[in-house]
Amino acid sequence: MEYAIRPMREGDLDQVLEIEALSFPIPWSRYAFASELKENAFAYYLVCQDGEQVVGYAGMWVILDEAHITNVAVHPDHRRRGVGQMLMLALEEAALARGATRITLEVRVSNTAAQQLYEMLGYRRTGVRRAYYTDNKEDALIMWKVFTCLESPAGIGRLGRSVPKKGAGLYE
Ligand SMILES: CC(C)(COP(=O)(O)OP(=O)(O)OC[C@H]1O[C@@H](n2cnc3c(N)ncnc32)[C@H](O)[C@@H]1OP(=O)(O)O)[C@@H](O)C(=O)NCCC(=O)NCCS
Repeated sequence: MEYAIRPMREGDLDQVLEIEALSFPIPWSRYAFASELKENAFAYYLVCQDGEQVVGYAGMWVILDEAHITNVAVHPDHRRRGVGQMLMLALEEAALARGATRITLEVRVSNTAAQQLYEMLGYRRTGVRRAYYTDNKEDALIMWKVFTCLESPAGIGRLGRSVPKKGAGLYE
C-alpha cells in the first residue's frame, strides 16, 4: 500500500487524536482540531493515510505572505519512512499556492528528530522563545524557511525535487 496525502476531515479526528497523544506531552483536544477545521479560515490541515489508516498529519495557518506550521506528527510505527517529509513538502506547496513567501515553526530545543527534518528541508534557526512550553518550561527554537524562486508559484510541482542544501538558508 502507498502513502497518500489529502486534506484532513472531521472523520479523521479519532485517529489524529491517537497519534497526537502518542506524540506530544500536551496533546491538542478534539475541540482544538475541530475548530481549526470548521472555524479557522486561515487554517489548512493534511493527513497522510496508508489504506484506511491515518498515519500522520500536519497543519498550518497562512496569513498574508507568511505560513506558520502549527503541528506535524507521524504515528510511531510509521516514522523514518518519509511521511513527515512528505507532509511538510505538501504544506509548503499549499502555502506557496496561497501566496506565502516564507514559512515558520517552533520546535522544542530537545526535539532533535524534528530539527533534523526541518534543517534537511532548508529551515534555519533564527531565535529562541524562552520557556515556551508550559509542561516543562522548555525553550522553543524558532525556525524559518524563505521560499526560493525555484519554489515560486511557477515552480510548484518541482518542489518535491528541490530539497535545499544545508547552509543555503537566507538566515544563515
Ligand atoms: C518529527 C517527525 C514528524 C518526523 O516524522 P518522520 O515521518 O519520522 O520523518 P521522515 O521519515 O520524513 O524523516 C525525514 C528525515 O528527517 C530526519 N529525521 C526524522 N526523524 C529523525 C530521528 N528520529 N532522528 C534523526 N533524524 C531524523 C532524517 O534526516 C530523516 O531522513 P532519513 O530517515 O533518510 O535519515 C516524527 O518523529 C514525529 O511525529 N515526532 C513526534 C511529534 C513531533 O515531534 N513533531 C514535531 C513537533 S515541532
